[in-house]
Amino acid sequence: MIIRKATMEDLRDVTDVEAVCFSEAEAAKEKDFIDRLKHFPNHFWLLYDGDKLISFVNGMTTNERDLADEMYSNASLHDENGDWQMIFGVNTIPKYRRKGYAGMVIKQAIEDAKADGRKGLVLTCRDTKIHYYAKFGFENEGVSKSDHAGVLWYQMRLTF
Ligand SMILES: CC(C)(COP(=O)(O)OP(=O)(O)OC[C@H]1O[C@@H](n2cnc3c(N)ncnc32)[C@H](O)[C@@H]1OP(=O)(O)O)[C@@H](O)C(=O)NCCC(=O)NCCS
Repeated sequence: MIIRKATMEDLRDVTDVEAVCFSEAEAAKEKDFIDRLKHFPNHFWLLYDGDKLISFVNGMTTNERDLADEMYSNASLHDENGDWQMIFGVNTIPKYRRKGYAGMVIKQAIEDAKADGRKGLVLTCRDTKIHYYAKFGFENEGVSKSDHAGVLWYQMRLTF
């Protein structure tokens, strides 16, 4: 198992895994990943089992404190020197779930954000996942302004 950053060559893999893990309304699409891989390939953490992508997280860095819906579709908002590492999506393909793989990629993203001198990480999640992210040190800040895919999202922040 290795965790590595992305290149444009990973486009197919990340698009496919995202489509397996999220609903049609929630999933980032190929055009979103093209944009993201152009602007912030170093803010993808990809976990491979051999040549199979099994889990990944991605997200831009920004000085904005809160995760806004426009960030999902406009990767040019990425600021490489931004204080906050946003986490847009956490994915593990079904066969590999509940073995700690998403935990491994989340921990690597946290470690790298810390080493890069960020203030911390921010994500939004459903209420059912709040306990999960709390295990890594994320704190629930309440309901997010996001109406992404018409879901009620909670914003969580891990501050270093
Ligand atoms: C959410 C998701 C990314 C989790 O991926 P994962 O690789 O299964 O995550 P982990 O293995 O780190 O943890 C999942 C659960 O398995 C548990 N677990 C981890 N290792 C385990 C092990 N060896 N044995 C048993 N359980 C284990 C974790 O404690 C966690 O339990 P919890 O839900 O009660 O907190 C995955 O289910 C997914 O892609 N879902 C669809 C997309 C999605 O909803 N993403 C999150 C949006 S907020």
